[in-house]
Amino acid sequence: MRDYRREIADRIAGLGDIAAAGLSADGVYDIVVPTTDDSKGDYAFPCFRLAKALRKAPPQIASELAAELSAGLDKDSGGVIDRVVSENAYVNFFVSREALARDVIGAVCAAPDAYGSSDEGAGRRVVVEFSSPNIAKPFHIGHIRSTVIGSSIEKIYRFLGYDTVRINHLGDYGTQFGKMIVAYRRWGKREDVESDPIVTLLSYYTKFHDEAEKDPSLEDEAREVFAKLERGGAEERELWQWFREESLKEFGRVYGMLGIAFDSYAGESFYSDKMDRVTDELADKGLLVESEGAQVVDLDGYGLGKALIKKSDGSTLYITRDIAAAIYRKEHYGFYKNLYIVASQQNLHFAQWKQVLKLMGYDWADDCVHIPFGLVSLAGGVMSTRAGRVVFLEDVLKNAVEKTREIVIEKDVNTDDVDETARQVGIGAVIFGELHNNRIKDYVFGWDKVLNFDGETGPYVQYVHARAASVIRKAGNPDAAVSSITPDAYASSITPDVDAVYLTSDSAFALAKEIYGFPDAVRSAGEKYEPSIVTRHIVDVAQAFNRFYHDEQVLVDDAAERAAKLALVFATKQTIKTGLALLGVEAPEKM
Ligand code: ARG
Repeated sequence: MRDYRREIADRIAGLGDIAAAGLSADGVYDIVVPTTDDSKGDYAFPCFRLAKALRKAPPQIASELAAELSAGLDKDSGGVIDRVVSENAYVNFFVSREALARDVIGAVCAAPDAYGSSDEGAGRRVVVEFSSPNIAKPFHIGHIRSTVIGSSIEKIYRFLGYDTVRINHLGDYGTQFGKMIVAYRRWGKREDVESDPIVTLLSYYTKFHDEAEKDPSLEDEAREVFAKLERGGAEERELWQWFREESLKEFGRVYGMLGIAFDSYAGESFYSDKMDRVTDELADKGLLVESEGAQVVDLDGYGLGKALIKKSDGSTLYITRDIAAAIYRKEHYGFYKNLYIVASQQNLHFAQWKQVLKLMGYDWADDCVHIPFGLVSLAGGVMSTRAGRVVFLEDVLKNAVEKTREIVIEKDVNTDDVDETARQVGIGAVIFGELHNNRIKDYVFGWDKVLNFDGETGPYVQYVHARAASVIRKAGNPDAAVSSITPDAYASSITPDVDAVYLTSDSAFALAKEIYGFPDAVRSAGEKYEPSIVTRHIVDVAQAFNRFYHDEQVLVDDAAERAAKLALVFATKQTIKTGLALLGVEAPEKM
């Protein structure tokens, strides 16, 4: 698609004064900015920087440049810039509304599902680690963030052409499994675990802590059992394996509801036999020092304290497994980037870990990126696993679907299948709500915010998408059943060669401009690891569509006008659908 900023920069760079000031076309490109106020133009070129070289006041430069550029515009040749004016120190550019609408429609129709994608990532692999819950512990509302943000980042990178690998670094190892095994052997029942694994295992874990307070020898027993597990003791491994499988069944149900899949479940236990290599290498490189009987890497010089690598009893730690995992991923996947979507509470851990990798001499350490996010809390107060005040993610999702069902029935939402619509909208609402805020912000989970059909929510955007779909259906083609209308079928019923003169009203242009900005939003969301940029952009598209739909009649009698407007509706529908898909949200055709 044509880059209007580039078109403008090239025209500016062609002027004598600009060359005299020593600015290149790329230099100009960097200075040109989109305006914030549409009525003042679409792009602006501030002239402050030229003042010194040209020995003139910026407003004077702006007015001279505007005059020169205006004279050069050839309005009859279907140019891309309509008007150039100056205001104070700025040269303001109005792009051709017709050209922009034609460009956008042409680009979307050429490859509807690929609109906004790119091949910038071709030949590059990005490892995205996300979700990574601890087995035998509740998969609760707090886990939604890594799961949903990570999944979206992965989809965005795939859309930008990268070869992605989705990893679930399960917390399936560590001394707590010694405790769990001891507790199970003393108080456990197989049937109980099978009927409700996580709740039951958690109760064993809690019971262990209560009992260990009275009888501290239990702790020693647990340590011994874990040591046996590490050495490969058959009985211990079998139990641990079983706990892991039962937990994975539960996690799998939630991933299924969210439509999320992984390429690898290589969690902490996967690295248990790769630990010696790490400690040996650290020792060889002279990085390990002893501190209170334990082996540490001293990071005081970096303001990061001491990274505890190996305990005095010889057992390794979380960070040791993360060092092993990074090395393994580099060797096994040959990544271009290795991303970790993990809560900001672990900032220190990841800072230490990266510093250790650097000290080990791995020049790819900087390609490993910790992507932190803030806390989610519940309107009713903080969660605590111990106190049993925990909200299971599965219950949240089921609840969302149930509440949505009620709304769908009460509002008499247009649907052929109430359950399916409730599922798509309910789950979508939770995911969308999660991805609406900047990831680093803390937020409070609340139903009214998530399920609102009018605010900046998932249901609202889905509704606008369905409304666009219904306009196209009403246009009379194709006459196939709604469920069988694919985007391609839409595309074939839409003509890209439209007369864009019908798309020059304020609201049509504002809508076309939002659609035009979508590929940039996707790119920037990838660059900043910030799915909310996509979320907010499709809210803008949806709002622009609603204004257009309010202001204008789409299904008019005039065939040329109708075709042009329908094409814009199609481009809108496609952009919203793709944006939602990048978030992991479905887009119902009816609502
Ligand atoms: N299992 C950990 C937790 O629930 C998160 C793991 C994060 N990933 C990592 N590579 N350390 O807190």
